[in-house]
Amino acid sequence: MHYLFELSGEHPDLPRAEVLACIEAEGYPYKILEEDEGILIIDGALDLDRLKERLALSRYIDKWVFSASPAKLKKKAQELKIPNGTFCVRAKHIGTWQRDLNTIEIERMVGEILGEKNKVDLNDPDIEVRPILSGKCYVGIKCTKIERGGFEERRAQHRPFFSPISLHPRLARALVNLSRIRKNEQLLDPFCGTGGILIEGGLIGAKLIGSDIAQHMIDGCKTNLEHFGISAELFKSDIGDILKNTKEVDAIATDPPYGRATSTHKEEIKELYARAFEVFSKILKEDRYLAIVLPDKEFIKMGKEFFDLREVYPVRIHRSLTRNFCVFKK
Ligand SMILES: C[S@@+](CC[C@H](N)C(=O)[O-])C[C@H]1O[C@@H](n2cnc3c(N)ncnc32)[C@H](O)[C@@H]1O
Repeated sequence: MHYLFELSGEHPDLPRAEVLACIEAEGYPYKILEEDEGILIIDGALDLDRLKERLALSRYIDKWVFSASPAKLKKKAQELKIPNGTFCVRAKHIGTWQRDLNTIEIERMVGEILGEKNKVDLNDPDIEVRPILSGKCYVGIKCTKIERGGFEERRAQHRPFFSPISLHPRLARALVNLSRIRKNEQLLDPFCGTGGILIEGGLIGAKLIGSDIAQHMIDGCKTNLEHFGISAELFKSDIGDILKNTKEVDAIATDPPYGRATSTHKEEIKELYARAFEVFSKILKEDRYLAIVLPDKEFIKMGKEFFDLREVYPVRIHRSLTRNFCVFKK
């Protein structure tokens, strides 16, 4: 089956990376058929309900029907056969499409062609045909809309225990997905703070282990997890001591202190990260992934002494703070 992912455009590479990480984590065999700005077309046996549950940085998953340059669009639309039932056409402009035809004209053209065989229903159609204008026109039939409102509702300020140190839930979910964790596997966040990453891991069915050096963070994290009906094994620990409390884990997703707003408890930040990487290399199972937010190249280099670096995405957290979302494999 061929699927068209409409990516969110919140970052140039991270939404694509998240889709591929989820597909790999779930073990679906797949092949990339086409890519463009905001577009990823995959041939694979995908479970869309599971992907919908996991993804944070995609907007829709459609059944891909064709891609066309402006010159071939009309002909391709004439060849298109859609299932019986009412339909509507909803076009969208997300990429570098700079041709004469705009979304309204494309909706009208495709609508008229399909309207020769099927009846239009703009309010409650059986079939939604979605031409997306990027470098070309990519046309899909809607399968699934990714519900993204929940991420906003889980923002740090809406949780019972608040601290500004927490990532936006969409970014926390993307980090969890990059760790390739699967349902019922053990996900560790050893700098868990208020629990932002653990919450996102819990919502996709991971078994959670969280630790932090600060007891008030562990208490607050517990309150936040309970607020969302999520359970976790939580304990207070310096990063160096977590092996005393827990065995090997299937994945690690974590956002260590930046040495600025968040406390390193007076430790030199490089020293803390060096200790952390050593512990991660011992506690992570073979062939599994560490997804970690790092300040800069120096820290990425440090990680490479213990792991195989697979992916790096610089992400703007806010106006004056950029961090690298990194994926390491053991
Ligand atoms: C950037 S915050 C983590 C934020 C977290 N992801 C959240 O959603 O709130 C880093 C956390 O590392 C903890 N920390 C600092 N030094 C530590 C150490 N040596 N061992 C374990 N945790 C430490 C801090 O208490 C802080 O909660």
